[in-house]
Amino acid sequence: MSSTNITIGDRRISCEAGESLLDALLREQIDIPYACREGNCQSCMVRSLNVAPPDSA
Ligand code: FES
Repeated sequence: MSSTNITIGDRRISCEAGESLLDALLREQIDIPYACREGNCQSCMVRSLNVAPPDSA
């Protein structure tokens, strides 16, 4: 299994294969708005500033 490293501010977290970015952020206790957790409401939408997200994202 592979993981993707993500830098948010001064924090670096790992998003494991099969794990959503939202779940990784919540696991690391990063405050992010969310509601449905199913990809419908877009409350948790974030933007990558310097690299393209992986195809699996
Ligand atoms: S919480 Fe992410 S799309 Fe709804």
